[in-house]
Amino acid sequence: MCGIVGFTGNHQAAPILLDGLSKLEYRGYDSAGIAIRSGEGKTEVIKAKGRLKVLAEKTNGGESVPGTCGIGHTRWATHGEPSENNAHPHVSDDGNVVAVHNGIIENYQELKDKLLRKGYTFYSETDTEVAVKLVDYYYKKYEGTPVDAINHAMVRIRGSYALAIMFKDYPEELYVARKDSPMILGVADGESYVASDVPAILKYTRNVYYIGNLEMARVRKGEITFYNLDGEEIQKEMKTIEWDAEAAEKAGFEHFMMKEIHEQPKAVRDTLNSVLKDGQIDLSEIGLSDEEIQEISQVYIIACGSAYHVGMASQYVFEDMVRVPVRVELASEFRYRNPILDQKALAVIISQSGETADSLAALRLCKNEGIRTMGIVNVVGSSIAREADNVFYTLAGPEISVATTKAYSTQLIAAYVLAIQFAKVKGTISEEQYCTYIKELETLPDKIQRIIDDKERLQWFASKQANSKDVFFIGRGIDYAISMEGSLKMKEISYIHSEAYAAGELKHGTISLIEDGTLVIGVLTQPALYEKTVSNMVECKSRGAYLMGLTTFGNYNIEDTADFTVYIPKTDPHFATSLAVIPLQLLGYFVSVAKGLDVDKPRNLAKSVTVE
Ligand code: F6R
Repeated sequence: MCGIVGFTGNHQAAPILLDGLSKLEYRGYDSAGIAIRSGEGKTEVIKAKGRLKVLAEKTNGGESVPGTCGIGHTRWATHGEPSENNAHPHVSDDGNVVAVHNGIIENYQELKDKLLRKGYTFYSETDTEVAVKLVDYYYKKYEGTPVDAINHAMVRIRGSYALAIMFKDYPEELYVARKDSPMILGVADGESYVASDVPAILKYTRNVYYIGNLEMARVRKGEITFYNLDGEEIQKEMKTIEWDAEAAEKAGFEHFMMKEIHEQPKAVRDTLNSVLKDGQIDLSEIGLSDEEIQEISQVYIIACGSAYHVGMASQYVFEDMVRVPVRVELASEFRYRNPILDQKALAVIISQSGETADSLAALRLCKNEGIRTMGIVNVVGSSIAREADNVFYTLAGPEISVATTKAYSTQLIAAYVLAIQFAKVKGTISEEQYCTYIKELETLPDKIQRIIDDKERLQWFASKQANSKDVFFIGRGIDYAISMEGSLKMKEISYIHSEAYAAGELKHGTISLIEDGTLVIGVLTQPALYEKTVSNMVECKSRGAYLMGLTTFGNYNIEDTADFTVYIPKTDPHFATSLAVIPLQLLGYFVSVAKGLDVDKPRNLAKSVTVE
């Protein structure tokens, strides 16, 4: 959730840390801080409440804090309110250990009580300060190396963490430890970098190492050594990041979200092309053979938030095409309800970041139960990508805006591709249908582009609706799944209360909320359900609702019912989500802009939810 950057090298550290943190600010942004050390000198810690720019101003862009080694953090509060006191880095009582932390230390109270008894004082409400003092305690108790001390602390800590630590006795060195929270280390030109996410260091290096769970690293200038929990040295292979640094910048758009909406045609095309060979789907890179597909008797799709909505839309597609049962599960529920699992099932975990704590836990639960797992993941080398039996990488590139758009669209493509291939292998579609579906998928990028090109009408409509108090999205079947995502987009960035309802469910209670002027958005992409949803819209209208219809070109009679209509190009109904979601993303975006809100960094949210 929070962002970590570390550096040790020959350049001034503070500007590099601030620059790196600015690329991670989307992960957490209620306070920030840096710790900088110049040679053998004292470590200086500077923190500020609020956005990173407050810290940058306080340090004159980092220039007022000289030193070539340091760590930095941008915070999304879990323990303790956003404040300068609770901001990282945290420091041990005598300044011996300084650290930043992502994750949650579950037994922090028990550890804090122990340290209080040992004479430690606490100045913040954070679990991080406990970790810092625990490391300091073991460092002094055993008089060993930093790796020994961290090792002892890791054995005692329960929960998740990515820690970057500086020790007074070891100038120009950083130490890193990780469990269930992302962290990468990079080297270039005799300098070393530490970061919780790729964009922070992409400008400086593409050569990175992924530190594994329950591993530690000692980071010197241009030299990184890894250790296991027994303190033994371990070897790691260096990986090269293929992402383009440009891709993580705004490229002239006012917000990342708008830039990422515009990148959807390319992201969808790239993802599709990555699994097409001579016009056929080829899953060999993913490592799923036809024989293995034949064996799969049901599919569990497990995810959170928008990725869960991808699962909902995919369920309809999968069950209709493949005729195998599909269960879609919220990862946070699945992991705690002792689910009954079929040994012949495939568990598909969908996650842009590949680090969502609940999704990762669900994956592990499936693996422990002997269920085959597949990750649909955007971030290469992320935890879910590394731990799943098979990985389907979406090629969305770095997604910075907290509200997902292009990753969602590429996840849909991955799910369609799997459904089509499963259907072919299991013989539930003909060869002709197979080819028709693939050809239709290839038309989606251009159709998405056409919707984006016509965004001004939505901008106008959004400006009229910016003062809405409540918005309801209704639809049936796939249109209900689309409504769920449209509603989430609206509420998360525009702060307007919104709900998605299966259209047929309204009259079982919710319709009592419809008042004069309440905006109801009917999604009508499924020909077989069109008339039924129109009837539900009419029911809302007769209770005073103001209606927007979202349907395909040709369904012009919707204008007899709706007050405002948005048309999308025709496609096979299975794939309609890919098109219908675009106007809903744009609507959420434009309402947020019209209200003057921070589109890319909505309040209380963070990009990657690495705590449960
Ligand atoms: C909403 C959004 C979130 C994520 C959810 C899962 O716009 O982005 O709902 O979809 O937090 O995140 P990942 O896909 O990283 O597991």
